[in-house]
Amino acid sequence: MIDFVKLSSSGISKIFYLDSVDSTNKFAKTEVTDDNVLIVAGFQSKGRGRFERSWQSDKGKNITVTLVKMLDISKVHLVNFYTSYIILRALKEITSANASGSEGLFRLKWPNDVLLNSKKIAGVLTELVNINENPKKFIIGLGVNVNQDSFPEEISHKATSLKKIFGADFSVNEVINTVIKCFYENLMLLEQESILMELWRLNTDIFGREVSFRVTENSEELKGEVVEIADDGGIKIKISDNNNSKKISTYYTGEISFIY
Ligand code: BTN
Repeated sequence: MIDFVKLSSSGISKIFYLDSVDSTNKFAKTEVTDDNVLIVAGFQSKGRGRFERSWQSDKGKNITVTLVKMLDISKVHLVNFYTSYIILRALKEITSANASGSEGLFRLKWPNDVLLNSKKIAGVLTELVNINENPKKFIIGLGVNVNQDSFPEEISHKATSLKKIFGADFSVNEVINTVIKCFYENLMLLEQESILMELWRLNTDIFGREVSFRVTENSEELKGEVVEIADDGGIKIKISDNNNSKKISTYYTGEISFIY
């Protein structure tokens, strides 16, 4: 059971448990007006990821939740970095107590993926409503693969779960409790941009890596080397053009893939 007492002392005011819903982010946008509301789904029929991709998750096996949080608009570029860092911290805490003896290395991948042993274990989809309001209602959707045993063929080479790596079932509710508690306990990091971003950078292996990069799902694929992630969240990539000359460009949105 999700520990409402523990979570309400952290800051959660209300929890919706939905056996099945199209998407917890969509539910949050249309049905929730209050601050600090958590929506927990057993199953999503139309879970969404970045770039309008679908986010598929077996019933009852994983975390599919959305947190509705009012935040100052000046935090807009930090929320994804903060949330992915929090998921990483919470998963490290949970698995450090795991007795299986299996090893797992959690890392972050720009802009907001959490990797376990180089495969994706969690993603964040943050959306905004009421463009003109401040503070703004942030719809923070978290997907974490906990007990998923297998993945659709097209993503099986790049997705993983706690169970796949550590070889044991984890309590989904315990993982939710830990992630949300960690989210509220560390909110001061949103006021400390350079510390937050340094913590994020310390948990990524991205620097100096050869990557392919796209700004959007269908845009041209660029290749280059990651040089820096700045405090404003921008990624600097040294791009090689067809004449083999190199220039450094900064991007604020997009997706990278490692070239092995
Ligand atoms: C990504 O990596 O592309 C982001 C995935 C975010 C998935 C979560 S699951 C809960 C919430 N509801 C959704 O429809 N999406 C997010």
